[in-house]
Amino acid sequence: MTTPISFARGAPAPEALSADLVARCTTLALEADGVRVLSYGGGGGYPPLRAYLARQHGVAEEQIVVTNGSLQGFVFLLEAVFSPGDRIACEAPTYDRALLQLNLHDMDVQAIPVEADGMNVDVLAAECAAGRVPRLVYTITNFQNPAGVTLSLDKRRALGELAERYDFLILEDDPYGRLRFEGESLPGLRELVDPERVLFTSSFSKIVAPGLRVGWIVAPTEIAAKLATAASRTYISPSFLAQGALHQVCEGGHLEGNIAHVTDLMRERRDAMVAGLSHLPDGTVCHPPEGGFFIWAELPEPLSADALHGAAADAGVLYVKGSDCVQAGGERTFRLAYSGVSPEEIAVGMERLGEVFSATR
Ligand SMILES: Cc1ncc(COP(=O)(O)O)c(C=O)c1O
Repeated sequence: MTTPISFARGAPAPEALSADLVARCTTLALEADGVRVLSYGGGGGYPPLRAYLARQHGVAEEQIVVTNGSLQGFVFLLEAVFSPGDRIACEAPTYDRALLQLNLHDMDVQAIPVEADGMNVDVLAAECAAGRVPRLVYTITNFQNPAGVTLSLDKRRALGELAERYDFLILEDDPYGRLRFEGESLPGLRELVDPERVLFTSSFSKIVAPGLRVGWIVAPTEIAAKLATAASRTYISPSFLAQGALHQVCEGGHLEGNIAHVTDLMRERRDAMVAGLSHLPDGTVCHPPEGGFFIWAELPEPLSADALHGAAADAGVLYVKGSDCVQAGGERTFRLAYSGVSPEEIAVGMERLGEVFSATR
């Protein structure tokens, strides 16, 4: 039987997971602060890690909430700050689990199309002008999941202007921005827009290890307090041991080296997948990313990535259907994650995909 190759999971490759580093830093956390990391604590997270992140973001410690993964912080935000029926704008396509949560919480999802340089801010402006102003815009600014695109500087500014003019909040979700292969990093929205309007969230999942389940959110003090209360009601306190280990990773000066290591591994995989794009049918549209985990593609008519998903799985290659990342439509689109597999597997998987797609032409 053919061993399946999965381009479906947005997870780091095994080589990116530094068990030695995590083991050393966990031991250090236990030695330095054993009683506290093994105890219950506050809902806002392990204080030394909160303090480190507060310094990094130039905010007060109370503005940082460290959660069991950043998706959990997103859920707390939906539950503690918004109500069913609230209009929340997001990119189309967007991160499938965030979209799922928006729907599970009965939000009024306002889909804003994505272009090669990020969300189409003109569409959002037209929606606002027509009286459909969201309460929150959720945007993944760098190497977007799933489209791989980055919001341009002009669009970041235009989004900020809209937020001020129409009085809405923005949540910038940026777990991939530190994994840049080439090109210049752009300023985050909190640098460009009144920081009282912009919440920021990120995660250690992609830059250290998802199994630690540690993400964080930066928010205005009042909102952060609500998130910390939601956390304490849900799980009392997050895993202080995992957060203590990550505090040692950060304060011990190991984070930058780890990010450089993961970036090199991801660049190699991105390059392998770009080389494999030649197997896809003529007319397939895609914009290879400058960082992150994903390549997004659209098949030419009449091919449907939705309809071919099962045939691809039978041929031993898995991808995410684009239709899972939008409220409606998207049948010709699909997401390929190069992050979790080796360059050799990528070469084989892309060949398999090419065969499946061309067999039906
Ligand atoms: C855009 C985005 N946000 C949030 C998450 C969730 O990350 P975490 O593991 O910190 O919950 C992911 C994971 O794939 C993601 O792609």
